[in-house]
Amino acid sequence: MTDLDTWQTPFLQGLMAPVTEERDDPDLEVVGKIPANLRGMFVRTGPNQQFAPLGAYHPFDGDGMLHAVYLQEGTARYRNRWIESKGLLAERARGHACYGGMSNFQFPADDVLLEGGLLKNTANTATVRHAGRYFSLLEAGPPTEFDHDLATIGEYTYDGRLQGPMTAHPKVDPVSGEMRFIGYSPMAPYLRYSEVNAAGKLVHSTEIDIPAPVMMHDFVITQNYAIVLDAPAVFDMDRMLEGGDPMNWLPGNGTRFGIIPRGGSNEDVRWFETANCYVVHFFNAWESGNTIEIRAPRMEDMPGGFQFENPGAAREPMPWRWVIDLTTGKVTDEQTDDVAGEFPRVNEQHTGQRTRYAYNCPQRTWDFEFDFHGVVKYDIDTDTSQSHYYSDTEVSGEHVFVPDPDGTAEDDGWLMSFVTDRATEQSELVILDARDIASGPVARVKMVARVPIGFHGNWFAD
Ligand SMILES: [Fe+2]
Repeated sequence: MTDLDTWQTPFLQGLMAPVTEERDDPDLEVVGKIPANLRGMFVRTGPNQQFAPLGAYHPFDGDGMLHAVYLQEGTARYRNRWIESKGLLAERARGHACYGGMSNFQFPADDVLLEGGLLKNTANTATVRHAGRYFSLLEAGPPTEFDHDLATIGEYTYDGRLQGPMTAHPKVDPVSGEMRFIGYSPMAPYLRYSEVNAAGKLVHSTEIDIPAPVMMHDFVITQNYAIVLDAPAVFDMDRMLEGGDPMNWLPGNGTRFGIIPRGGSNEDVRWFETANCYVVHFFNAWESGNTIEIRAPRMEDMPGGFQFENPGAAREPMPWRWVIDLTTGKVTDEQTDDVAGEFPRVNEQHTGQRTRYAYNCPQRTWDFEFDFHGVVKYDIDTDTSQSHYYSDTEVSGEHVFVPDPDGTAEDDGWLMSFVTDRATEQSELVILDARDIASGPVARVKMVARVPIGFHGNWFAD
């Protein structure tokens, strides 16, 4: 056990408590049947703090750990590995934490700064595979490359072409094979948009002018555009440097969508105002004639920021649609369902194209994040939904759409999430048939050790 146990924050307790072992567990027990044609790895990242924090701790701050379940011919094996960031290696060499976090910023000592950098790039948020490379991502820094065995290779900068940080949610265009991404920063320039071609070369990068340093966790693409939401969740660097809450909600600043053409620069961006709101993650967006439709869980505001000082103030994110008319400049929007949810996903073979199906995860309560308990499948064509909920003691996570390699329809595939029972601390990889989620799991793969609650998952087919 570590001295982490003495930390009373709920973010290091219970199902969020870090694990201390890197494991390799072959031949996992399976209840039900893993689809035989599924070959690849399900990877989920998240915070897994190694050393007792220097002060206030938020899950955004924790050292990244990758948890993978490799599926092959109906069998499953598990492996987990820390992201060995330069910052974590500097801390390991000293045997204690040397970095604060977003909610407790501290300048590291000179020797630590030299080894590990000003910020620890925990790469704890999400993963992507592009042009044959696997990356784990933190939106405050460059991507961190890892290999198929989860070994950390190191920060990747596209031959030095990468300027500024990369969002944890870059978008791979299934048509062109290119990857498009934003990077935001609390210090000017506040926003940058970049494109990497299908061969993995960073071919376009441009600064985008926005008036204030806002938190922009996600964005969306369509065939011809990238779309950002400039919402008034504004960084307060002075307060952050004093160790206070880094975010302000400034409704007077307003909220607007920015439409960036592929290959475009700042002067090509068109801005469209909409009612104040905040979006953490988007489902998808697509073009239809001269309009762009955007789908996302939407919050009215974000007064508690990310619960640094005001837990319990989180708003319920409601499924929403916006339609931007590029000819008239008019934006219309409406709520599309009354089940609050987050961690929205679609079949990413259709990113940027119209999707009929969308998957979203409801929580029991929004007072405390990370209390997911099911998944809802939306059928946009028929305006209907189907859902699957876990038992009262089970906590699920993001449900990743895994395409059926032999399928043709958009929902031919499965949904995968880690699910852990609070009562027993038994973790499972649950596999639902996306065509019929209401009938319950087709397989429950039992983990030997608990997988802590974390952030985003992905499926990387062999
Ligand atoms: Fe995210």
